[in-house]
Amino acid sequence: MSETIIEKLSLIVNETFNQYHKSFLIISGTVLTGWLYNKYWINRRLFSSCQSMEGKTVLITGGNTGIGYETAKDLLQRGARVIIACRNVNKGYEAINKLVNESGCSKLNIRLMECDLCSFDSVRNLAKLYNEEEDRLDILICNAGLGYSSTIITKDGFNPVIQTNYLSHFLLTNLLLNKLKQSKPSRIINVSSDLHKAVKSIDWSDALTQFHKTSLFGAYAPSKLFQILSTYKLKQDLLDNENINSFSLTPGLVSTSIKDPMEESINFFTSIFYYPLFYLMKFLFSKTPQSGAQTSIYCTIQSHLQKSKDLYFENCTAVKSSPLTMDPLLAEKLWTISCQAVGI
Ligand SMILES: NC(=O)c1ccc[n+]([C@@H]2O[C@H](COP(=O)([O-])OP(=O)(O)OC[C@H]3O[C@@H](n4cnc5c(N)ncnc54)[C@H](OP(=O)(O)O)[C@@H]3O)[C@@H](O)[C@H]2O)c1
Repeated sequence: MSETIIEKLSLIVNETFNQYHKSFLIISGTVLTGWLYNKYWINRRLFSSCQSMEGKTVLITGGNTGIGYETAKDLLQRGARVIIACRNVNKGYEAINKLVNESGCSKLNIRLMECDLCSFDSVRNLAKLYNEEEDRLDILICNAGLGYSSTIITKDGFNPVIQTNYLSHFLLTNLLLNKLKQSKPSRIINVSSDLHKAVKSIDWSDALTQFHKTSLFGAYAPSKLFQILSTYKLKQDLLDNENINSFSLTPGLVSTSIKDPMEESINFFTSIFYYPLFYLMKFLFSKTPQSGAQTSIYCTIQSHLQKSKDLYFENCTAVKSSPLTMDPLLAEKLWTISCQAVGI
């Protein structure tokens, strides 16, 4: 009986292969070529520059792991003083030891400051400590990010993803603005994502709480859109007047521990179609954290970018962001509600 089933199954497999072998070969060829291209071209094509960062001080949020860690390591190797802001102090010290070993930098060039971006009090404490104890701030890299959160609201009353990715970085930037002005020419870099393009319109009544998430990517996509929109406003206000430039960027698909924002909306469709496809794509095409950090490093160190009007970067090149990110009225409105939200 079982032999008959096996025979029938192998017959079906054989017939299917004979019928579709051309398509099968084309698909496997394409996947293999993509994988080889990613492994041997994208992941090895590191941004090359011997630009020194001696005398510069960089503050990077989420510098203990992933893209932030690799960015910090590169900047330490170039002689920068790097302060990494982390929510978990133990993880932070582990990262510092690793960074000292791997970069060969002096322990005096690296410092940890605690900050939980889900709390405005914690952001204010970080800014106070930084303003009191650090002389310079040449580059602020707002890198830390949350893909999704099972908590609906933070103690400050906002969506945790919006508060971590956008609002707390907005507050931090404003609280450190004087330091950036004292150290000019200086830069603000917001690590965003191409998923910002999933947002087609902004519901202002729910923008910072996201109780009625309409985007497929939940609160993550609007949080990344807001990062670019505020970068646009910062560029308008600070580039010509203060010589502080602001950039946003996408690192691309990178293999790190960040949680996939789609995990928020698990349903039949996502578990059957989206997940297998997403993880296959990630396995085949994702960048290493080192490769994913290249655009952050590029925006930090390239001296010719100091006067650049470009807003958004990918693979160390200026690219277009969605039209929503360059709308002055939207930028103004977001700025106003963000000031009210963080109390400045
Ligand atoms: N990976 C990708 O494919 C991808 C694609 C597009 C954009 N990005 C963006 O790239 C940035 C870096 O992400 P990654 O991929 O390197 O992810 P990651 O490895 O998970 O690193 C995220 C960092 O953010 C920190 N963080 C999260 N919530 C925080 C909070 N409330 N307060 C303080 N720190 C917090 C994490 O701290 P813990 O270590 O304590 O968790 C970690 O240091 C993020 O802004 C992300 O949105 C990533």
